[in-house]
Amino acid sequence: MSGLISEEDIARVREANDIGDVIGSYVPLRQKGRDLWCCCPLHQEKTPSLKIDVSKQLWHCFGCNQGGDIFSFLMKLEGLSYPEAVRKLADRAHIELHETQGTNALAQSAKSRLKAVCAQAASFYHTQLMRSKADGAAAARSYLSGRGMGSDVSRRWMLGFAPGRNQLVRHLTQGGFAAEELIAANVAVKTADGHLRDRFYDRVMFPINDVAGDCIAFGGRVIGKGEPKYLNTQETPLFHKSRVLYGLDKAKASLTATGTAIVVEGYTDVIALSEAGIENVVATLGTALTSQHIKILSRHAQHRIVYLFDGDAAGRRAALRALSFIDESLTPEAGRMRVDLLAVTLPDDLDPAEFVQSRGAEALRKLIDAATPLLQHGIDQRLAGADLTSPEGRSRAFAEAIGLLAPIKNTLLAQDYAIQIAGRCGVRESAALEALNKLEAPPQGPRALREGEGEGPHHSQTHRAQQDAQSAQGPIQRDGSAIAPMEQRNRKRFERELLSLFAQNPREALAHAQTLAQSHWHGQDHIGIAASILDALTANELASPAEIISKAEEAVPGAASILTGAFEGAEASSANMPAGYCDFLIEEIKIGDLDEQIGETRRLLADDSTMAPDERAALFTTVVEWQRELARRQAQHARSGFATEFVHEE
Ligand code: UTP
Ligand code: MN
Repeated sequence: MSGLISEEDIARVREANDIGDVIGSYVPLRQKGRDLWCCCPLHQEKTPSLKIDVSKQLWHCFGCNQGGDIFSFLMKLEGLSYPEAVRKLADRAHIELHETQGTNALAQSAKSRLKAVCAQAASFYHTQLMRSKADGAAAARSYLSGRGMGSDVSRRWMLGFAPGRNQLVRHLTQGGFAAEELIAANVAVKTADGHLRDRFYDRVMFPINDVAGDCIAFGGRVIGKGEPKYLNTQETPLFHKSRVLYGLDKAKASLTATGTAIVVEGYTDVIALSEAGIENVVATLGTALTSQHIKILSRHAQHRIVYLFDGDAAGRRAALRALSFIDESLTPEAGRMRVDLLAVTLPDDLDPAEFVQSRGAEALRKLIDAATPLLQHGIDQRLAGADLTSPEGRSRAFAEAIGLLAPIKNTLLAQDYAIQIAGRCGVRESAALEALNKLEAPPQGPRALREGEGEGPHHSQTHRAQQDAQSAQGPIQRDGSAIAPMEQRNRKRFERELLSLFAQNPREALAHAQTLAQSHWHGQDHIGIAASILDALTANELASPAEIISKAEEAVPGAASILTGAFEGAEASSANMPAGYCDFLIEEIKIGDLDEQIGETRRLLADDSTMAPDERAALFTTVVEWQRELARRQAQHARSGFATEFVHEE
């Protein structure tokens, strides 16, 4: 169909299309100061909140918090892929593209090779399912049709059958793929004696697509009973489980149209709902919905994300796990850009597929329309399981339910819920508010959201146990870190601001490459963003802000929004930033890093009893020196003026 578009061509297309002209061809623009503003065409609004920075060729909407360059604008507005957006703007400017199997974009072409491996594997599996006369394939067909997935459904979802006996390896090798490529795509594995072997055999295959509809991984289900029930592709350069949602490619139009995303647990649930006409449905791949997922979904479905939990014990545990994502950003106080997180638990031990098959799509739609806010759902669940007839039972239920409010204890919403819980447990309102007040602030410190690759016989149990342990440790913010104290939050804001300044002023970034490379970034996305800014500048010292930001977005979905939106409001933008603010931010971050380093070393001195005495003495001297340096820098930093004048609390 089409090949890779060269970087040079992309740059020419960018040059030839002014961002103001392009956006202006969709919506009327207004000049304010040096910027253009308009009503954001990505959502409904009456007053302009989309700002166009013409000098940098960037846009950002403060209403829906999306932003980026001209290509990302077109991608979002028209639902195009990146190359499609480039082609469209090339047409607009009458530029002819020279599409090649680009040799310069090495990583890109390696990835497209892996995609080709997956595509050919999917089509091989599919042909086996549809046509093979072998017993295994026949068993797969009758298993699927027995579950309501006949040949039409199999065709639409490109379902397949993996025959094993190295038939896939042979097929792909004949097709010109190298052993390394099959291994990298995880469709084959190397045995102990060095031979290649099919990874999947005697399984029904569910291809997993990226948002553009390209196959990047597989889920393989045993036919009938057996362990593990599902074998999934492990992490590969193409496939990152915590970022992928099964069915998103097919669901995206419906997500945008309805503003709602329905999240279920299983592949088969997605297929059953979608086939029943409820098309705005996706599944996680055996993990909890991560903050990454929420971010991705809210890009398509602007209003509601509805969890549909199975009506069994596992479903109830999943519901509790989901609660660990609640934080203040999801309360009404967070303002208009929040997505509502809602939940439904299905009745009678049914899973979504069973429910829609036995009771119909209309009944399911009714349940979804009446979904409860996730927090309310959690409270209801706690109280439903409690004995409210005895005083002991009531006070235990009260404590448990109030405990759920800890992550949002300082919000009005928490007070509302506390009063509601008081009523339901027969406790005085004033006592409930007091209990709310006394709740421990949630634990601190950054924590990565690691999704273990827990394949194997007890996959779901062990995974769920890990997840439960994780949620027991405390709530997680939307970006995956634990709720942080005010200082930490300011730290993350400083990081966002500094990264934006760097992305938007590449010369500053080059001058401070050390800071980019060495800072101990707290924001989970910031590590990847800093690396991608460095990469872009290493590849081309003259890279423009728009180029840097689009590279960052490629590496870290959501980066463009961070890099264009750090300075909210018209009065503060990277262009009119007071001179020296960049230095202030750098110093702020360096001081934070030094402080942390001192803390860590002190802990090491206290904890490590195996350290040799002279080593301990040397380390102690170093810490004392660092401490002195920290004090000196803090004093000087406080005099720099910004600390009081420009810095606003979040
Ligand atoms: P379920 O056990 O609910 O399976 O796991 P399901 O999707 O309903 O499958 P059917 O209907 O019995 O065929 C939900 C999801 O958890 C992941 C899969 O993504 C599955 O769709 N999972 C489950 C695994 O990855 N491995 C397993 O062994 C089990
Ligand atoms: Mn199921």
